[in-house]
Amino acid sequence: MRRWPRIAAWCVAALAVAGAAVGSAVVYFGWYDVSATGPHTMPVYALLDVASTRSVKLRSADIKVPDLDSPQRIRRGDALYRAHCAQCHGGPGQGPEPYALGLNPPPPPLVTSARERPAAEVFWIIRQGIKMTGMPAWQYRMTDEQIWDVVGYLRVLPTLSPQQYRDAAPPGDPASGAASSASIAPTEAQPSDRRLGDAKAGRDALQQYLCVTCHAIPGVPGARHYVGPSLDGMADRSRIAGVVPNSPDSMQQWLLDPQRIKPGTAMPALGLREQDARDIAAFLQTLSNVE
Ligand code: HEC
Ligand code: HEC
Repeated sequence: MRRWPRIAAWCVAALAVAGAAVGSAVVYFGWYDVSATGPHTMPVYALLDVASTRSVKLRSADIKVPDLDSPQRIRRGDALYRAHCAQCHGGPGQGPEPYALGLNPPPPPLVTSARERPAAEVFWIIRQGIKMTGMPAWQYRMTDEQIWDVVGYLRVLPTLSPQQYRDAAPPGDPASGAASSASIAPTEAQPSDRRLGDAKAGRDALQQYLCVTCHAIPGVPGARHYVGPSLDGMADRSRIAGVVPNSPDSMQQWLLDPQRIKPGTAMPALGLREQDARDIAAFLQTLSNVE
């Protein structure tokens, strides 16, 4: 009888050694893909998400929240947000800068953050930043008072329509420009390179345009904020955003310039290349629940 616990202990130890050896090999031989185009797998994503959520909760527990509602605070927060945050996080109806689209993990729109997270957590994230993501720490760039200004503004952000966000922008701000175009000049393929939409290429491409920061998309990990509708069953819907008939062609137009199809929509133009829009439209065609 006494033998079994010993054998079990040896098995556990052997497994641990084998696991460590495999782990080291994966690291040492370069098998782990660090490219920003290779998304995390679902389990890695879930693990990182839990680690980050728990860490922020623990560390922000004792922060005292000042009054956040004064109009002066909101006005200062507005200016700070446009100067330091909109480049990566965009704003209502406004896409971020091109480099931000390629970050992995992607910067989410912040319209839901202030609703989903207590003010102390939002303050902590802005002040400390988040390791191994593109989220910078701002404590050496802003005073605590300024960070609270931004936190106050983030509580107002979800109430602003794309039109209001644009109208409040100072001259020269990207958001004050033409309603329909993102500040991105996409690099176009030569006409000879054009090809029909390819669903597999579309699935890869949509990781590079922040789609998953606003939409739940079947089979694509990372959806956490639901700013737009789930794209599950998109192929079965008769209209796109309730306005135009759902065809691959009009889907391509929607993805290239949502504001032109539906003025005032909260979905921003994201600077898609035409081929990417065609590929993503082909991928969306595969999202059917009809047998
Ligand atoms: C260089 C790009 C970049 C800039 C500039 C930036 N952020 Fe971020 N931010 C990120 C990324 C990437 C994440 C996602 C981190 C993750 O997935 O854990 C993030 C996450 C966040 C979150 C957590 C979102 C959530 O609810 O999950 C908040 C809040 C936030 N940023 C606020 C700000 C504010 C406020 C500013 C301006 C002062 C700012 N960020 C500037 C890239 C940026
Ligand atoms: C900043 C958030 C945001 C991002 C990023 C975003 N969307 Fe959207 N999307 C929305 C919102 C909000 C709507 C609802 C628009 C409306 O009805 O006015 C929408 C609507 C849609 C629709 C129509 C859904 C329906 O039920 O008719 C499709 C399709 C779509 N988005 C695809 C995409 C794809 C593909 C990407 C990436 C290239 C993307 N979106 C990026 C916010 C976003």
